[in-house]
Amino acid sequence: MKKKLWISIGVLITAFSLQANAATYLNQTDADKLSNYINHNSLACMSCHAINQKTVGPAFIDISRRYKNNPQTLSRLTLHIANGSTGVWGSMNMPSNMATEAQAKTLSRLILNLIKK
Ligand code: HEC
Repeated sequence: MKKKLWISIGVLITAFSLQANAATYLNQTDADKLSNYINHNSLACMSCHAINQKTVGPAFIDISRRYKNNPQTLSRLTLHIANGSTGVWGSMNMPSNMATEAQAKTLSRLILNLIKK
């Protein structure tokens, strides 16, 4: 009986800290900027991506986390958004021409900003 109680308390604490974690790493202001930019330019990104969870493509927050300390990131992501991407995250491909190169550069910056500094 006592054991069960401790297990439930453990589960609760874990659930709370996971939630707190998700809330602290996402920069909500920049998430809004990214969504607004995508909508404003009528881009198709959100049919395969979401900010906070994996769908067809990786979550934007996970892309931000993966590259945050990599100095070549901006040019690399710009290229991949403009020309498509294969084999980095799994077996699904990202098609090319989803955005112009100028748009791709802005999008890369916005995606990289999603992680709170
Ligand atoms: C048809 C589905 C689809 C659309 C539309 C799409 N993507 Fe993707 N995207 C993917 C998939 C799948 C991957 C993973 C590709 C891989 O593993 O290399 C990906 C990967 C990425 C990456 C990571 C590239 C890397 O080098 O790690 C970025 C950044 C990205 N997409 C941004 C965007 C943006 C911004 C848009 C809109 C302009 C967009 N995507 C539209 C499916 C899509």
